[in-house]
Amino acid sequence: MVNNRMQNVDHLRKTAYCDATNLNARIKFWQLYGETRDDAFSNFYDELIAPENANFLDIGCGPAHYWEWGIQHDRIPADWTVTLTDLSQGMIDEAKRNVSVRPEKFSFEIADVCDLQFEDNSFDVVTANYMLYHARSQDLALSEIARVLKPGGHLYAKTNSDKHIIEFLDLQKRFIADESQIDNIGLAHAAFTLENGGSMLEKHFSNVGIIRESGICEATDVDVVVDYARSMDAELDLEPLKAAVKNEIDNKGFFKVTRSSGMFIAKK
Ligand SMILES: C[S@@+](CC[C@H](N)C(=O)[O-])C[C@H]1O[C@@H](n2cnc3c(N)ncnc32)[C@H](O)[C@@H]1O
Repeated sequence: MVNNRMQNVDHLRKTAYCDATNLNARIKFWQLYGETRDDAFSNFYDELIAPENANFLDIGCGPAHYWEWGIQHDRIPADWTVTLTDLSQGMIDEAKRNVSVRPEKFSFEIADVCDLQFEDNSFDVVTANYMLYHARSQDLALSEIARVLKPGGHLYAKTNSDKHIIEFLDLQKRFIADESQIDNIGLAHAAFTLENGGSMLEKHFSNVGIIRESGICEATDVDVVVDYARSMDAELDLEPLKAAVKNEIDNKGFFKVTRSSGMFIAKK
């Protein structure tokens, strides 16, 4: 099920990602019940192939948590420079605050992955985590990324599998507020998943690899589960939703959520 609003630039900029509120509800859930923040970020830095003086472009950087963690854990070599970009001014403002202790490393720009303002062959590395599924055209987004990468440069793109958080999709369907919300139900990542993303990447990159990670989360806090479900775009009927989640936790001891994500590594 695809929710087309999650590829609409206006909706993404003004509502879904006007600031980090929705994203933070999801981060809270993963921190409690998924892979720890330290593991996720540390594994990401372990995979990066980059020259000592690498010029990075992060597209859809959000609040720049990867870079904030990298600064705190000394994972960003002295000569790297990073251009942080996002569609949303609110996200860029948060990113600026979060990496403000190392201002010399970072520059900031509003950018749409489908229409990048950068010269051909400008960057050694492009990162585009959990965002390619928001592009209005994945083919255009990937051709833009390939264009701005130097020959031999790498793209790192985290995304989700089509099995990821299927339980939250089920909650959306069961507790939709009214009929007007039907088109807003869906998994935002459906347009670029671990399953369909490889063939899209192969059209633009010479070498495409994939790293997968998965697990079952056993959530025990009703509000954390409900806040995640509500962060997913469709308006939901709050009280019955809360009651159902509470009921499941009371009966089974937890609310089960499938986690299935990973990262594409593509070489130009
Ligand atoms: C799920 S968040 C991921 C943030 C960050 N990459 C991370 O992994 O923590 C998706 C981000 O992509 C941005 N975004 C959505 N569509 C975009 C587009 N067409 N071009 C650039 N950024 C976009 C959103 O504003 C949001 O900050």
